[in-house]
Amino acid sequence: TTPSLKRTFQNDFMIGAALNTQQIMERDTNASRLVAQQFNAVTPENVMKAMIIHPQWNTYNFEWADKLIEYGKKNNLQINGHTLIWHSQMPAFARRLQSTDSFRLFFTDHITTVASRYRDKVYSWDVVNEALNEDGTMRRSPFFTKLGEDYVTEAFRLTQAAAPNTQLYYNDYNNERPAKRAGCIALINKIKAAGVRIDGVGIQGHWQVGKVPLKDIEESILQYSALGLKLAFTELDIEVLPRNFQGADVGQRMKADPSLNPYTSGLPDDVQQQLASDYEALFQLFLKHRDKIERVTFWGVNDGASWLNDWPVRGRTNYPLLFDRAFNPKPAFYKVIATRKGV
Ligand code: G3I
Repeated sequence: TTPSLKRTFQNDFMIGAALNTQQIMERDTNASRLVAQQFNAVTPENVMKAMIIHPQWNTYNFEWADKLIEYGKKNNLQINGHTLIWHSQMPAFARRLQSTDSFRLFFTDHITTVASRYRDKVYSWDVVNEALNEDGTMRRSPFFTKLGEDYVTEAFRLTQAAAPNTQLYYNDYNNERPAKRAGCIALINKIKAAGVRIDGVGIQGHWQVGKVPLKDIEESILQYSALGLKLAFTELDIEVLPRNFQGADVGQRMKADPSLNPYTSGLPDDVQQQLASDYEALFQLFLKHRDKIERVTFWGVNDGASWLNDWPVRGRTNYPLLFDRAFNPKPAFYKVIATRKGV
């Protein structure tokens, strides 16, 4: 029988997966089976984002999010809410709001309505997502521009008031890199200095095969936990496609040269092995610091469901996760399981 991630790491950290609508609505029995077998936490990949849950002024669409809660309850899954405040996937009406007052009303109402509806139903919230630039300065998002830089603290304050028992996280990508990490630490210290609670920091973990920044990751685990915060790796996947198949113009180039989609008939052995040893090294590191890590969540259940097949252009064939398109465990899965033996 196939080993189980959640059982293997049960004394270490939660093991999560992001679910899209297909899986939340249980339209995919293979995915449902795998979730039940392998994971004890789930994150909504899209359905709790403002664009979907709050499509119009004063109009909410809770259908899918409620279904996720129900599915999680039935299957004993921790639910990690994602995300209340994010500049991307904002509803169109909110992007059009001109005055500061109406924008602030949207901001306050959104957080209060969503966080209070799911209080005691989600274990954690990514309260604010991706507020920082790569150099550690604040991203000039609509939230920053309209509300000023204190919007982050304010978002935590509002969430805490609406859902006092929920774990509150700040979430970002590349916040394991030194410059962005320094900005992230400064942001966290500001929230704390205002007397507002923050429980944890999420490192998304969208990495590249052969380039997983283990040193930066370890340094980040140490520095963030020294602030008294819990750590979660919230969106783990390892991109395997080469650099020349990335970038804004890849759609154009792919049309001109379909061979740019290099692994349509399978992942070559050497890349498969590299992926496996990257995941192995990562989990060895996670285990070394298991007292500081709350959760490791994969951004998708299996390769076929990964956003990386569609980004930055649809039709790429990517292999970033532990389970393949037929829902079978990959070599990386077995390497990950085996890391627990050394503990
Ligand atoms: O649901 C619509 C569908 O009705 C429509 O026909 C179709 C046509 O474009 O789009 C569908 O929406 C897509 C949505 O995913 C649901 O599949 C959006 O186009 C697409 O942009 C959206 O992508 C999501 C992306 O966030 C948005 O920026 C990815 O699935 C999701 O994996 C990704 O997740 C983010 C995290 O939230 C934050 N960190 C980075 C991570 C990866 O970008």
